[in-house]
Amino acid sequence: MDDFVYHDGQLHAESVPVERLAKEHGTPLWVYSKQTLLAHYRRIDEAFSPLRATICYAIKSCQNLAICRLLREAGAAFDVVSGGEILRVIEVGADPKRVVFAGVGKSDDEIRLALKTGIGWFNVESEEELANLADIAAKMGTTARVALRVNPDVDPHTHAYTTTGKRETKFGVDWQKARGVFQRFSKRQSISLHGIHLHLGSQVRTVDPYVEAIVRALSLIAELRSVGANIRAINLGGGFGAHYDGVEALPAADYANRIVPLLIDCGLDVLFEPGRSISANAGILLTRILYTKSSGTRRFIIVDAAMNDLIRPALYGAFHFVWPAKVSPHMETTQRIATLDLPGCETVDIVGPVCESGDFLAKDRSLPPLHRGDLLAVFTAGAYGMAMSSQYNSRPRAAEVLVEGSDFRLIRRRETYEDLVATERI
Ligand code: LLP
Repeated sequence: MDDFVYHDGQLHAESVPVERLAKEHGTPLWVYSKQTLLAHYRRIDEAFSPLRATICYAIKSCQNLAICRLLREAGAAFDVVSGGEILRVIEVGADPKRVVFAGVGKSDDEIRLALKTGIGWFNVESEEELANLADIAAKMGTTARVALRVNPDVDPHTHAYTTTGKRETKFGVDWQKARGVFQRFSKRQSISLHGIHLHLGSQVRTVDPYVEAIVRALSLIAELRSVGANIRAINLGGGFGAHYDGVEALPAADYANRIVPLLIDCGLDVLFEPGRSISANAGILLTRILYTKSSGTRRFIIVDAAMNDLIRPALYGAFHFVWPAKVSPHMETTQRIATLDLPGCETVDIVGPVCESGDFLAKDRSLPPLHRGDLLAVFTAGAYGMAMSSQYNSRPRAAEVLVEGSDFRLIRRRETYEDLVATERI
């Protein structure tokens, strides 16, 4: 699952006790394991190797330059969703031809930047966007390679906010309308419309929605080919699950076992855009207890990380396993479940300093007795953790550390109070 494991009652990131990282770099602190990150990437890459698939890491899940560079060196291509993300992957030396650019609202500036950079694929989400892209590319005297994002109307059975492949969401073009779009745009010189893109949602825990969507996409591609469209690529987006709550996420090989046979003879280049399944288990958030108190029937553990650091519990009611960095031997656990109820535990809410009742990292959890100054680890926090953090309540964003074996280094310094106001004018 990952390389955050207890030895002698101490949580380690690979070979480094996390208490040491917290002492050296302060808290809250994001800690990443290089080994876990690369292992998850390689598992996906290997599982889909019979298709010679291109694995485009979705940098929105964890965008730190050092993380992106490690994945680029391991052979990953990239999925980006903004001008800022384009600049990040170029900064780490990505080959622009191995970058796919998604997003339902690309601005003209972003489109120009992507064309100038020579981005490999534009995943286009509407007819108006396609017309705009064609106009801009024509003015620049260039050609954009396009995959049309179709909405396959498949339910991925995940959180409503991360469901994207259903008809009523804002993403893509209804698959029934795709043929018309291809016909209307086939003659435009400044675009080459050669791909179909779909993305069903995030934390999709079963393969069935992928199978359903692929079957639909392949029949659409056959139909498009019959009217002369030259479809060369299918991009299946991201969405594979991560391990959060003791239920093992489906291994990449299990997704591949059913997806590969469907595509092995289709004569298409195949792309994927995994984010969470690569980065989520590669990161934890360390936070120190500031105070403890009881109020009515509840016991609160007030920590120095908050919803501005990790918004997933507040935004999606997401579960992140939380456990002390130092425990007595019988409290060491590899199980990451809400109902873990070891003898001597008490039920607590773990809350942050932000002025909102929604500011919690965990609720109703059974944890060993906790005291001011104890260090806690919030697990499976590598994806959509730091990437979604903010400075709400004028809280400087936390630092990030990358661990490799017994070495570690700072890959993002902690923000300062000067950083908070640096772009403002009185
Ligand atoms: N491709 C596209 C077009 C996407 O929109 C996304 C994620 C991905 C790929 C990567 O999906 P992944 O493999 O990471 O599931 N903030 C939410 C997740 C939002 C996902 C947005 N799109 C969360 O914290 O659960």
